[in-house]
Amino acid sequence: PFVVTENCIRCKYTDCVEVCPVDCFHAGPNFLVIDPDECIDCTLCEPECPANAIFPEDDVPAGQEQFIALNAELAKVWPVLATRQDPLPDAAEWDGKPGKLSELQR
Ligand code: SF4
Ligand code: F3S
Repeated sequence: PFVVTENCIRCKYTDCVEVCPVDCFHAGPNFLVIDPDECIDCTLCEPECPANAIFPEDDVPAGQEQFIALNAELAKVWPVLATRQDPLPDAAEWDGKPGKLSELQR
């Protein structure tokens, strides 16, 4: 499956959800995850993310391996999001900032 990683936090552009053929994105307050049990590895979402936050599970950047388990965990509790929304207000400001995991709201 594909995995949403740290740079989505506080950006949440949501361009990714529009292209997913199986609606496997689940959204929380300031982050979004992929349900690994539903993702069919179609690859369509990866180039859509303006924050380059989506990676194949086998290619998650070093130090972000914890996001694999985090996607699986939060996909079980957050609702599906299948329609694009406005990005978070400070998305451009937060795009690319390191250490955003501590900003994650559940
Ligand atoms: Fe959806 Fe395809 Fe992305 Fe998986 S790879 S989350 S199926 S768009
Ligand atoms: Fe997040 Fe990128 Fe989608 S910022 S909401 S993974 S388009």
